[in-house]
Amino acid sequence: MHMYDIIQKKKEKGVLSKAEIDFVINGLMRDEIADYQISALLMAICLNGMTAEETADLTLAMVQSGSVADLSPISEIKVDKHSTGGVGDKTTLITAPIVASLGVPVAKMAGRGLGHTGGTIDKLESVPGLRTQFSYNEFLKLVKETGICVASQYGSLAPADKKIYAIRDATATVDSIPLIASSVMSKKIAAGADCILLDVKTGNGAFMKTIDDSICLAQTMVDIGKKAGKKAIALITDMNKPLGFAIGNSLEVIEACETLKGIGPKDLTDLSIELAAYMLFLAGKGSLEGCRSMARDALYSGRALSKLAQMVDAQGGDSAYIKNPKLFKTTQFSMPIRANQSGYVHEMDCSLFGRASSILGAGRDNLESDIDYAAGIILHKKTGDYANEKDTLAVMYSSDEKKLLEAKSILESAFALSPQKPPSTPLIYKVIS
Ligand code: URA
Repeated sequence: MHMYDIIQKKKEKGVLSKAEIDFVINGLMRDEIADYQISALLMAICLNGMTAEETADLTLAMVQSGSVADLSPISEIKVDKHSTGGVGDKTTLITAPIVASLGVPVAKMAGRGLGHTGGTIDKLESVPGLRTQFSYNEFLKLVKETGICVASQYGSLAPADKKIYAIRDATATVDSIPLIASSVMSKKIAAGADCILLDVKTGNGAFMKTIDDSICLAQTMVDIGKKAGKKAIALITDMNKPLGFAIGNSLEVIEACETLKGIGPKDLTDLSIELAAYMLFLAGKGSLEGCRSMARDALYSGRALSKLAQMVDAQGGDSAYIKNPKLFKTTQFSMPIRANQSGYVHEMDCSLFGRASSILGAGRDNLESDIDYAAGIILHKKTGDYANEKDTLAVMYSSDEKKLLEAKSILESAFALSPQKPPSTPLIYKVIS
């Protein structure tokens, strides 16, 4: 078999066999195939797509490139959740403790920020002392004792995805349904849970900009999950505006704690309860309506907040920050963004909010860069809100004054104001099960 022939076949819209896909992934892992040949194949896949069978074969080959976490020492049904990436998306910090407080173990491996989107691990590491890197035995012990652990994903899970993602990132081949589906599902299958809830973001801040593409991605991922013997459900949720008002690591932890106290933003509270309800439903905890009411009760009773504090302590962090978020360090500098005319906020470009937040210090320029955990943005107005000229639309926070000026013009262009009130959009567009 030759890599040249495989590239040629996909260039001509051919369907790759399982043997050809295994040849590519094995060759990649053994460094027997050059990156430029992998890049050419990825571009051909990006342009010509893959069948459902090819996508499933690619996913399973990526799973087999590394180890698969054995969570069988935890006897209960384990449910994992994955978001395809959004701005201000701190739902894991809310849903995971809700679900764990109701007796469903959460053994979650999460990632760092990617592009303009934030990552749960970076958010959690803004809590002083909190660790996210554990050996397999430590991870299992934490889940058994506390019912919850959110850890950094091991490099040994789906390592082919790591190599392929780095090439995709540098070759404009990220936004392809078979490549995103295989990337996400290879990691989720390798992470070992029995059930997977997928939050597929749609809109200007998501990888998938249209509902049709989002449905196709969601269906592809649910089908792969089922083929791998997992129960999977996907929710298609809105990412045409950031979730909640806070963007940036500790700012998002603070907002998550407020939500767990029952005083969070409505969109974030509603979506978190719905995601938690679907996780409980997947774990067999009852009817969807029953699971919704259990999730609501766990949140409004404060039990989920106590579970988050318990998790933070168990992972070496200081839970005083969860109980009293005022302890989080604030940045030295801040600057408001003001409306240059009166009108309704008609549109928010989420990817620009993510970009501006990253420039302020909340994201990384490269894998080695340090994060300013307190940096970010607090929104004062969101789509549909009315602003008078000079009203504050958002406030930027950074420990580096120069970065405020750099992010200012980006944020100003992220808000579009108009005399007409825009139609409201749903938070959840569709459920694929
Ligand atoms: N998240 C992933 O893990 N992979 C992708 O390709 C896109 C989003």
